[in-house]
Amino acid sequence: MADVKLNNIKKSFGNVNILHGISLDIKHGEFVVLVGASGCGKSTLLRLIAGLEEITSGSLEISGREVNHIAPAQRGIAMVFQSYALYPHMNVFKNMSYGLKVNGKGKDFIKEKVLEAANTLDIGHLLERLPRELSGGQRQRVAIGRAIVRDPNVFLFDEPLSNLDAALRVQTRVEIGKLHKKLGTTIIYVTHDQIEAMTLGDKIVVMNEGLISQAGTPLELYQHPCNKFVAGFIGSPKMNMIPGKVLAIEADHLLVELSDKSISKAYVETDTASIGDNITFGIRPEHLVEGALQETSLSAKVSLIEQLGEATYLYLTLGDGSEIVMRGEGESTTTFSEQINISLKPEHVHIFNSEGIALRRTRAGNTKSPAQLAQLKAQTAEAAAN
Ligand SMILES: Nc1ncnc2c1ncn2[C@@H]1O[C@H](COP(=O)(O)OP(=O)(O)OP(=O)(O)O)[C@@H](O)[C@H]1O
Ligand SMILES: [Mg+2]
Repeated sequence: MADVKLNNIKKSFGNVNILHGISLDIKHGEFVVLVGASGCGKSTLLRLIAGLEEITSGSLEISGREVNHIAPAQRGIAMVFQSYALYPHMNVFKNMSYGLKVNGKGKDFIKEKVLEAANTLDIGHLLERLPRELSGGQRQRVAIGRAIVRDPNVFLFDEPLSNLDAALRVQTRVEIGKLHKKLGTTIIYVTHDQIEAMTLGDKIVVMNEGLISQAGTPLELYQHPCNKFVAGFIGSPKMNMIPGKVLAIEADHLLVELSDKSISKAYVETDTASIGDNITFGIRPEHLVEGALQETSLSAKVSLIEQLGEATYLYLTLGDGSEIVMRGEGESTTTFSEQINISLKPEHVHIFNSEGIALRRTRAGNTKSPAQLAQLKAQTAEAAAN
């Protein structure tokens, strides 16, 4: 059982503190995705787990044993980087088998392992080729294959798909999803890609400046971000944030006034709110609709229209100059510079206090997940079943 347990892990380089105390329980077989702004310490954390850097303080346990001072090769971990770092003068077979050979494994054993991994990754026909004779996606699969043959208990992936073009990213993402289902290995995976994070992760960990902001399932983070940072980080386009203040407090909702003077209900826990509090009103682009059909209505001017075919993004300016984005399904007949009404359901509203902390939403469970996310989940599940 390859559980990974991080207890208050800190890391400094010289006198610069990079990780300020990371605690995380990763269960055997779990797929954990680390996200966070550039420089927040994601790669550093992976390198600590792999044993490539020394932990400054705190403890790291793998399968119930502390491994702080155990050599990388003894940790049962394989790491795949963004740059494939294949040996250029070795063919695919040799690249994949090199680590096993160095470890003194027998020829037959090596051959069996490499062929098995190559079949899993659909690169069995490429074993004689040199890296320069491969596409980027094929090279990345060789790098993954090199990790698989070692039978690790834990895979660490550091942005493995970011060198690939868009179509290949999608394909390789699905392959990694399938591979996880097949091998059942614990995976810790760093990405900057929203869709990778939402579709691959059993759990997403959002890091900010060397600390964990929030960890949870993709939908927990989507529906109940605990602060403005996480709310802005999960979801694309980003959640709209509009300044506002509390007008009234009712039993099960707040009445808030936005900076453009429009008024909305918000179904959140009200016990910490006071009348007059400055708040931030959050609403996701996919929860806005054109027209005044829903309970809260705003008036906005269209400043840009992006037609994607399956959806339309409207960039809108409210009466006070606040900029927001709306994602509508399908095409839109709205024109540039038009003054339109948009509306939303108060159940979809997020409220953040003046410190940026979310007030817990009380009706979020009733909201359906967005069509886009459901579709992606379905596609990944379908691909995994094939
Ligand atoms: N060996 C090192 N010596 C000194 N500082 C380092 C070292 N390695 C990383 N850092 C610093 O630690 C911080 C975190 O770096 P890290 O590579 O972990 O970020 P990251 O979250 O992976 O970012 P990105 O998304 O850009 O890959 C950065 O400020 C970086 O400059
Ligand atoms: Mg990094």
